[in-house]
Amino acid sequence: MIYADYNGSAPLHPSVKDYLCDRKQNGPYANPNAIHSIGKKMLFGMEKCRRMCAKVLGAKSNQIIFNSGSSEGISQVFHSVMSERQDNKNIIITSRIEHSAVVKACAYYAERGAEVLHAKTTTSGVVDIEDFTKLLKDNADKTAMVCIMAANNESGVIQPWKEISKLCQENGVTYFSDTTQYIGKTEFNFEESGMDYAVVSGHKVGALVGSGFIIAKDPATLKPIVFGGGQEKGLRGGTQNYIGIETLAVAFDAFEKSKDQLSELASYRVEFEQEVKKAFPNAVIIGEEADRLATTTMIALPGVHGQAVQIELESQNIFVTTSSACSDNEPETSKVLKAMGIKDDVGRGVVRISLCCGACNEDYKKIADALKSAYAKLSGISNY
Ligand SMILES: Cc1ncc(COP(=O)(O)O)c(C=O)c1O
Repeated sequence: MIYADYNGSAPLHPSVKDYLCDRKQNGPYANPNAIHSIGKKMLFGMEKCRRMCAKVLGAKSNQIIFNSGSSEGISQVFHSVMSERQDNKNIIITSRIEHSAVVKACAYYAERGAEVLHAKTTTSGVVDIEDFTKLLKDNADKTAMVCIMAANNESGVIQPWKEISKLCQENGVTYFSDTTQYIGKTEFNFEESGMDYAVVSGHKVGALVGSGFIIAKDPATLKPIVFGGGQEKGLRGGTQNYIGIETLAVAFDAFEKSKDQLSELASYRVEFEQEVKKAFPNAVIIGEEADRLATTTMIALPGVHGQAVQIELESQNIFVTTSSACSDNEPETSKVLKAMGIKDDVGRGVVRISLCCGACNEDYKKIADALKSAYAKLSGISNY
């Protein structure tokens, strides 16, 4: 079996599995906010995890606020910035390739009077930095926040977040980047990033689903959306998911140890793409010209339906998706691909192959063989 949907949800990292097996047996289990000694032990462990995550990601431990994952993190950052904005700052600058959590947060505040401006996307799937610069400079004094992701979940295309961050700092505008698909898949240092807020989701990095955190440059700017007993310094109520938090620390520790393999993985991906293109010269690699995550490739053979390819691959025990889990059931070209100007003959045909840092060349070779046989079979049938 080859599982190639890590951008959807990563299986538990092997070191997380080992950790959990041991932990299940030995405990301890207690509320980390309790004042008895077991509670204190839990709190000590949780704070150690905070320090471990912070260290790997170049943040201070007080900048990490644990939560349930990125959708919650995104909602809280929007709430914090938009509900406290000054009257004259009414604009959100974003892009057309954001995850639904960002799209819906923007729509929510648009219904409440905010103006949402979208920077254009190039045909390579990158936010157009010239267009963004103009939008920002023309509107800097009225902009409450910029929200542009670091890497796209469908295409794996890395966005010009470093330039965006610098421009935001120069213009005194808050920058929040949805880093869900970036952090844990490539190197990242929060302090150096210049971002005001970033988010992490445990199930994208091999930790337990339902765990995650916000990294905030100034945590005092956050407002809670979950009220409770003062946990996370009053910024996120509710008993912390301490086992999930422990798995985050284990997963980031494992990432730190294996990140040297990323450049090798990127070269396997290039070989894989070249091999498929050699067999099918009209195959399209989405975002081919752009800088992309080493772990992601999105590919289409015009006229061949992505879902048919997915089913063919599944019959060979290879699990891919057609775009993202959120748009998999839509028979249409996804909004991300539309923003890149991709037409339906390609857009309906895409499959996304997303692996992890420790994936090997063998996996790519097996997927390439299966994909080539699926294309050979399906291109003889008129799909649409
Ligand atoms: C780019 C991006 N942002 C946000 C999310 C939401 O993450 P979570 O599942 O942790 O809520 C996802 C998950 O697919 C994502 O890919």
